[in-house]
Amino acid sequence: MGLKLSIVTISMLLLVKFIVNAECNIFDVRNYGAKANADITQALTNTWKAACASAGPSKVVIPGGKYRMGAVKLLGPCKGRIEVQVQGYLQASGSPTGDSWVSFVHVDLLTLSGSGTFDGQGKTAWGQNDCVKSKYCNKLPINIRFDFITNSVIRDITSLDSKQFHINVLGCKNVTFQHVTITAPETSPNTDGIHIGRSTGIHIINSNIGTGDDCVSLGDGSRDITVEKVTCGPGHGISIGSLGKYPGEEPVSGVKVIGCTLTNTMTGVRIKTWPDSHAGIATDMHFEDIIMNNVGNPIIIDQVYCPWNQCKAQIPSKIKISNVSFKNIRGTSKYREAVKLICSRGVPCEKVQLQDIDLAYSGKEGPVEYHCINVRPTISGKQNPPACTVKA
Ligand SMILES: *[C@@H]1O[C@H](CO)[C@@H](O)[C@H](O)[C@H]1NC(C)=O
Ligand SMILES: *[C@@H]1O[C@H](CO)[C@@H](O)[C@H](O)[C@H]1NC(C)=O
Repeated sequence: MGLKLSIVTISMLLLVKFIVNAECNIFDVRNYGAKANADITQALTNTWKAACASAGPSKVVIPGGKYRMGAVKLLGPCKGRIEVQVQGYLQASGSPTGDSWVSFVHVDLLTLSGSGTFDGQGKTAWGQNDCVKSKYCNKLPINIRFDFITNSVIRDITSLDSKQFHINVLGCKNVTFQHVTITAPETSPNTDGIHIGRSTGIHIINSNIGTGDDCVSLGDGSRDITVEKVTCGPGHGISIGSLGKYPGEEPVSGVKVIGCTLTNTMTGVRIKTWPDSHAGIATDMHFEDIIMNNVGNPIIIDQVYCPWNQCKAQIPSKIKISNVSFKNIRGTSKYREAVKLICSRGVPCEKVQLQDIDLAYSGKEGPVEYHCINVRPTISGKQNPPACTVKA
């Protein structure tokens, strides 16, 4: 009887221990030397190494408090599912170091969570960004890089004042960004919110982005991308491209931008390609249920995108754009040119659909305008401004 009871007790204890372990192994940076108001570069690196090497699910915790941190590279693959929970306020160094601040590389089943902030201290570096004047930009650090990350979730965190792009997604598959906040001043150069390239199955949902450049930008090789219920502004809007500048670019296909609100942005939803470009494909891109509040050019396809005269604008773009729809896009345009579809003379756009467009302009330049060049869109539903004035 006594023996039976103790066997039962011991098995129950083992079961409880097993459940606790199965839930998670906690790795608190304070156990690896982190202290509030101090530099935690080494502490976080060591905590990550321990968590990543431990079998089963593990969780790295950065508790509340302010910390300084230099560049960290958090490398996988890890032995099991891994979460990094940031509750604290992380502050980058004022002087730029390398091309990234925090990077996650080759991790499967990663969760980055917490109410914490990644403060890139961009103010100290924006003056050094001379991209506007020359084609050689300074390689300033990106706040958070995700390189070759799969089946992962990034939620609740804030990225503030990055020196360059806030978040860069490269070579990733099945990654969801949820309730992410990105903030930088309207005047900060090249501070794109989330840039995606060569990645598949990336979802950006319920997030707030206000910055000095594109809120979301999709580079070559972006496939099956969803941007849903995102608010954008200030910034340059939600952009596909620019495409065609480099040889060997991969196609862009399967993009859905749904239920977003853009406020005071320079452009709204935009597809841009370089003239005098390398050949490429951008197809199956759909924009739906979007509200524009005082947006510069709310709807724009620009195949003569050539900022700072870096290209021969008279040679047509070789990026073929097809299967694009703009549906139920409403609100106000800041400029007269509310809808601009400037397609390539070399490879005109195909299968462009516009349905229920209602964009008002209340300025003094004249009536709201609609331009179509090298494109014959299918038009249905409400059209304000009135459909295409075809200029060829
Ligand atoms: C995508 O990643 C999520 C989060 O890890 C996971 O739950 C889901 O099963 C993955 N989907 C596929 C198709 O692998
Ligand atoms: C166009 O896009 C729709 C919606 O994503 C997709 O179902 C369809 O297959 C595409 N058509 C072509 C010809 O690519």
